[in-house]
Amino acid sequence: MRLRRRRGLVCYWHGGNFVVHPHPGGDPLTMHPVAAEILSAFEEWTDPLEAAEELGHLSGESLSGAVDQLHENGLLLAEGSAEAESDERFDRQWGTWAPEASFFHYATQDVKYPDTEQPANIVSGGESDSPFVLFTGYPEADRILLPRPRCPELATPYDEVLYARRTRRDHTEEPVPLEVLSALLATVFAPVDYIDCGRCALFRRTSPAGGARQELDAYVAIRNVTGVRPGTYHYNLREHSLELLSEGFTPEDATHFCADQEWARGAAFLVVLSAVVDRLLSKYPTPRSYRVMLLDAGHLGQTFALTATALGLGPAQTGAFHDSVVAERLGLDNIGSTPLYVLAAGYPAPEQTEAPPMAEVETFRRTDLGGVAVESS
Ligand SMILES: Cc1cc2nc3c(=O)[nH]c(=O)nc-3n(C[C@H](O)[C@H](O)[C@H](O)COP(=O)(O)O)c2cc1C
Repeated sequence: MRLRRRRGLVCYWHGGNFVVHPHPGGDPLTMHPVAAEILSAFEEWTDPLEAAEELGHLSGESLSGAVDQLHENGLLLAEGSAEAESDERFDRQWGTWAPEASFFHYATQDVKYPDTEQPANIVSGGESDSPFVLFTGYPEADRILLPRPRCPELATPYDEVLYARRTRRDHTEEPVPLEVLSALLATVFAPVDYIDCGRCALFRRTSPAGGARQELDAYVAIRNVTGVRPGTYHYNLREHSLELLSEGFTPEDATHFCADQEWARGAAFLVVLSAVVDRLLSKYPTPRSYRVMLLDAGHLGQTFALTATALGLGPAQTGAFHDSVVAERLGLDNIGSTPLYVLAAGYPAPEQTEAPPMAEVETFRRTDLGGVAVESS
């Protein structure tokens, strides 16, 4: 029987132990590091006797026992087995996303909710819930206290806003009034109310957030807002102010932030969502919670896009950005505070040259629409 090393496999050290972690669907296994050497001899379908020749310096008997054990544990797969077939399917489907993305996805599947005594919709302040700082602030920074104007545009009917939202990559040079930026920041990021979680106060926003921990801070890189000098700022949501972090922000800076995407140069401002890891980790020690952080960023992104649209702005967002450039410019250590998502807005240009053309009959002809063909009579 020929064997091959499972493709879905990640090895690492954890707490001083060497761990081999198969995925999808496998448990992490603590092993002697020699397991890695044995596994590497099974890159392609290999007879264990052939592998023994390659691993001649290891004693034959213990090697054969180790190979059996690696097979039993699903780290070596038998040619033609159902496990091998499923591993090949995994390899094809996840392609270049493996191992980084596939490992995170599968290694965090099927995790029990941390506190099984509590229904999932209750925010608990259990023993593991260590203290954390509710608000990020830069007390020494220069600041602009923001106005709180009434914005009648926010009363635009929901369906009008929903269907008007589009990603806008062409912006005019018309400056965004400070009142508009202020209304956007307050609506998306400021506290709506405060709750008692048993241990401390937490706040809620207009977007849902895992455990109401609000681990995502908003940093604003301003280029074209009336009455505000270009620069990078932190939105202090407790005070409703902009705290100055660094002066100056050019179209080139905006483009460079956004992984050199040209459209970003025209945005009046960018908003960087940056995660304070400890705020979420201190309540949810399971690594699955990192997913929650990403989901939280998505919720805020959608609220940002809808609110910006209601205010007459053209929103955009990008998952592609230069993380370390952004972190450095904002003074984030990129360890405890790390950027996750970049949002942008400005007044939309009447002609959206960056927008894709609408699909036509010819487009659908080239498209595999799936489903069952309907026979015309
Ligand atoms: C998470 C996320 C990341 C995105 N990243 C980029 C990006 O890097 N560059 C870009 O031009 N558009 C980006 N977009 C915009 C999408 O391309 C856009 O939403 C999509 O084409 C659908 O168009 P719509 O937003 O007008 O509905 C991103 C959107 C989302 C939700």
